[in-house]
Amino acid sequence: MSRLIKAIRGFRDIPAEEAYILRHVEDRTREHFELFGYREIRLPIVEATELFARGIGESTDIVEKEMYTFQDRNGASITLRPEGTASAVRAYLEGGWKAQGGIAKIFYTGPMFRYERPQKGRYRQFYQIGLEAIGGEGPLVDAEVLDLLYRLFVRLGVEDVRILVNSLGCVECRPSYRDALTGFLGKVAGALCSNCVRRIQSNPLRVLDCKVPSCREALRGAPAVLDYLCKACDAHFTRVRQTLKELEVPFEVDHGIVRGLDYYNRTAFEAVCERLGAQNAVAAGGRYDGLAREIGGDTPGIGFAIGLERLALIIERGGLRLPVPHFFVAAATGSARVPAQALADRIRGMGLIVETDLEDRSLKAQLRSADRAGATRVIILGDEELGSGQLQVKDFSTGEQRAVDSKVFLAALEKETMPPVKGAVP
Ligand code: HAM
Repeated sequence: MSRLIKAIRGFRDIPAEEAYILRHVEDRTREHFELFGYREIRLPIVEATELFARGIGESTDIVEKEMYTFQDRNGASITLRPEGTASAVRAYLEGGWKAQGGIAKIFYTGPMFRYERPQKGRYRQFYQIGLEAIGGEGPLVDAEVLDLLYRLFVRLGVEDVRILVNSLGCVECRPSYRDALTGFLGKVAGALCSNCVRRIQSNPLRVLDCKVPSCREALRGAPAVLDYLCKACDAHFTRVRQTLKELEVPFEVDHGIVRGLDYYNRTAFEAVCERLGAQNAVAAGGRYDGLAREIGGDTPGIGFAIGLERLALIIERGGLRLPVPHFFVAAATGSARVPAQALADRIRGMGLIVETDLEDRSLKAQLRSADRAGATRVIILGDEELGSGQLQVKDFSTGEQRAVDSKVFLAALEKETMPPVKGAVP
């Protein structure tokens, strides 16, 4: 036998039980986004490398060291998407969606790829559901996006997520903050890790995000971006906070939220849950009014993305379990095998899950697999039943077995599974 080929590090198979939970989380999130008028779009998984390099920013971790970049057969540089915002804005610009007027409210879901160090809750292929409001610049858009995010957690029964918000200012006020921060960092450089020292010039805001304890200590007393906001940014952020209070959305202002992507300005936020451990951000996002300009357009936007694996870890699962077969149709004799499959088809037509034996096994072995599959009831069909128009129905929960008339049984089942008629009086 040849050597077993394994999956690539950081890429994993998601077994049925987990895939089922992910699907549940994704479906509930979709429904929630649609309640606010957002519509799903599908985006390519591969884009021109330039889109991310210019959109996300050359000096970010993602672009510097985490992208899966290849040359295609024509020698063009292409990249597996590390996130969806740059693609969403590209699609908006390329599709001329501005012409439709108003705010484009869109969402997308699917795998993203980042060459990060794998650990609990951090993979090289992970799944996001992302939402973007492109074309609106007022603070009410920011407040609605945060309100929507908060209410999603409520809907999913998650009570211990904290929403942390900050304002990163704009092209007008960021330079003075950057100067103040660079000055401060220069003074404490001796106490910073080598990565932070390197970033003092290239991307000083990111130093605030460093998790190394000695850096955290050295950063106490660092100037806060909120003290440097220009009048317009200050007014914007004040209105966002006021609106959130009026909508009764709990949030905390945290000037440590700087985000790892360069496109952000003004409102930036993260939703964190301590139960997730070190990788505690379940969702993150913010405003990106300058992103479109980097990729050949000009339009403001705001959005966020949720890490689906992380959301799946913290939701209230209640009785959420993989569905089990409603019936197993067992054939007691060789001549009953095909009729058993035909019967299974008939019951599946009513929307019920039905399995049969496909391996010519004994009745005893079939009953064992029915039990293992978690089937609640087994229908046994043999020559005798075929002749008399009857079925043997065994209920696994009570152990009881009885003979029933096939037609009567199917008619009753049909009635049971029929969807209620719209408008009928109960
Ligand atoms: P991000 O903060 O890079 O933002 O990712 C958003 C979320 O994706 C994170 O909070 C986390 O839950 C999840 N995530 C990120 N990396 C990984 C990973 N390696 N493994 C598992 N989960 C991960 C963005 O991607 C922006 N595009 C969000 C956005 C949308 N901003 C505006 N619009």
